Amino acid sequence: MQLKQAVRAKNDIIYNKDGTEHIDVCSGGHGTVFLGHSNPEIARYVHEQIDKIWHAGKIETDICENARNIVESFLPKEYHLAGLYNTGMEAAEFALRAARVITKRKDVISFEKSMHGKSMAMSYLAWDNPFGYHLDGFHKFPLPQKNEEEDTLKKIESIVKEGNTAAVFVEPMQGTNCGISASDDFYNALYEICNKHGTLVVFDEVLTSFYRTGKRFYFNNLDFIPDMVILGKIMGNGFTVSGLVMKKDHEVEPVMLPGSTYAGNPLAASAVYGTLSIMKKMDMTMKTGMIADTIKRYFQAQDNFILRGKGALWTLTFEEKQKAEEIARKAYENGVFLSQTGSFIRIMPMVTYSKDNLEKALSVIRDLI
Ligand SMILES: Cc1ncc(COP(=O)(O)O)c(C=O)c1O
Repeated sequence: MQLKQAVRAKNDIIYNKDGTEHIDVCSGGHGTVFLGHSNPEIARYVHEQIDKIWHAGKIETDICENARNIVESFLPKEYHLAGLYNTGMEAAEFALRAARVITKRKDVISFEKSMHGKSMAMSYLAWDNPFGYHLDGFHKFPLPQKNEEEDTLKKIESIVKEGNTAAVFVEPMQGTNCGISASDDFYNALYEICNKHGTLVVFDEVLTSFYRTGKRFYFNNLDFIPDMVILGKIMGNGFTVSGLVMKKDHEVEPVMLPGSTYAGNPLAASAVYGTLSIMKKMDMTMKTGMIADTIKRYFQAQDNFILRGKGALWTLTFEEKQKAEEIARKAYENGVFLSQTGSFIRIMPMVTYSKDNLEKALSVIRDLI
């Protein structure tokens, strides 16, 4: 599908060069601009920072300190922010290096079709490997559905009890795989097994955190807090920034190779500080609850699609990829920008949506089904 060139965007509308416009129901396509495009309050924080300092390498800045503190104020007290990074992939790579150093083990377990970014290691961790290389000690399982969970847990335990597994990487709701999750019981049991055998559990919450799936973090639905949590997307409302959170009993060490040129960049930090300051003043749970209710009102699961989702992250999966493509294309022709991958479409509105625009967009999509 040919997308038009955009010239600007305001809250939930993208304005194109040819004078047309689109209602955005996927927060910038990748689920980032949760507080709206060009949010004026966040823009003020970034503008202020532009006049102060853009980049200072390892030198501490006020804004980075403020950004770290506000991220930590969103976290359970057991955690610290191990570092701010640029992309989800970069933070996930750091998580893998850190887990290997902390546990002095090499192996890693992950779930097929998860998304952890596109470096060689992160794509190997998640996807079928069309690139023809092999990384030792990477074990992958399908994210199990109800009747497969027990079997998957047994297989994972048989690996972790050998004592070579540094970490299990989990994307708790697979946003690039039809929105599939395992059950809360599965995640709880997985953590118990890993904890018993000294394997760390790393939750990749790049997409699901900061209320995207209703609660502050996806792990708030569960009985444990993961050993590490990868953050990204929403935390900078579209500005390039990510983060890795660790439990306080794990220190960042030079041997983990933390940091990179732009890690903890002051401009990105100003976007984080602005985004999270505003979020603190909003009733995010109420707002994502309203989005969930609206989506469920428009899309009852029907014979020709499966509806999955939580909070402000919803997928409609069709039998045929062509159907999802056709809906995305026709919706775009009718002024609605949604996200489509393979046989499913994603609807992940911003919490600042205008009711009229969201309902108009959902009607367009529903009529196309
Ligand atoms: C769950 C998850 N983890 C990691 C990533 C990778 O983030 P980035 O594209 O910023 O590298 C993504 C990107 O979509 C994601 O959804």
